[in-house]
Amino acid sequence: RISYVNGRYVAHRNASVHIEDRGYQFADGVYEVCEIARGFIVDMTRHLDRLDRSLSELSIDWPMHRSALIVVLREVVRRNRVRNGLVYLQVTRGVAPRDHPFPAGTRPSLVVTAKKIDPEALRHKAEAGVNVITVPENRWDRVDIKTVGLLPNVLAKQKAKESGAYEAWFVDPDGAVKEGASTNAWIVTNEGILVTRPADHGILRGITRATLFNVAARLGLRIEERAFTVEEALSAREAFLSSATTLATPIVAIDGHPVANGHPGSVALSLRQAFFEIAE
Ligand code: PDD
Repeated sequence: RISYVNGRYVAHRNASVHIEDRGYQFADGVYEVCEIARGFIVDMTRHLDRLDRSLSELSIDWPMHRSALIVVLREVVRRNRVRNGLVYLQVTRGVAPRDHPFPAGTRPSLVVTAKKIDPEALRHKAEAGVNVITVPENRWDRVDIKTVGLLPNVLAKQKAKESGAYEAWFVDPDGAVKEGASTNAWIVTNEGILVTRPADHGILRGITRATLFNVAARLGLRIEERAFTVEEALSAREAFLSSATTLATPIVAIDGHPVANGHPGSVALSLRQAFFEIAE
């Protein structure tokens, strides 16, 4: 495996950044995960637009020109011969002696890695459906910024894993579902309407979520952007989650209670099927 670190393509096992990188010390950085399908980076423009927003919200400079970054992303995918998988990119504020305020004159660090994922494994997981658990929302109020500060997400995901579930949904004190630890949350009502929470500061504005709006339109499905509760999800026709690698994956149980009849939903599976005809 080959990775990119600050201007160099290096053997993955030797890829490293300095111990005083602010990403390491303060989680002072942002990232993107893009799906690779048939050798192409899916929705790259939307991912780079979101990266631009994350960087500007934190006043971190672009590590290089956007067109140069595209070259690096494609080169890492190419050098690793990834046909299906993901490319990860991370930009931090850079290396400086530890001190909380922004350092002056520091160059941002850029790291890019790629990895293969077996598309069959993902398909099997989607066709079987996944379980989720719920956890109280305990993150800060700017989770719309895709920062590498993911400790609440890590703890929630570990709890899910220990409960035999794939995902944990963050739930507000009023019972409204925010999103998963690494996925956006959806339901399909008994009237067949897709419901997902508005992309305000309370959730990450998922790229897959955005593309699913286009897919749904193509399939003639209506979408309502509003909050929904765990109770509503349990009595809905379907629930599903979305992210760059899971696309649309049905949820068959929440906290051990079956969603509808406990079988993967057909709307989620048809969205998943149609996804590649829309994404670019
Ligand atoms: N996670 N919500 C959260 C908190 C996420 O971390 C992610 C993505 C999403 C879905 O966004 P998108 O459709 O752009 O992948 C929603 C990535 C995949 C990760 O952290 O690995």
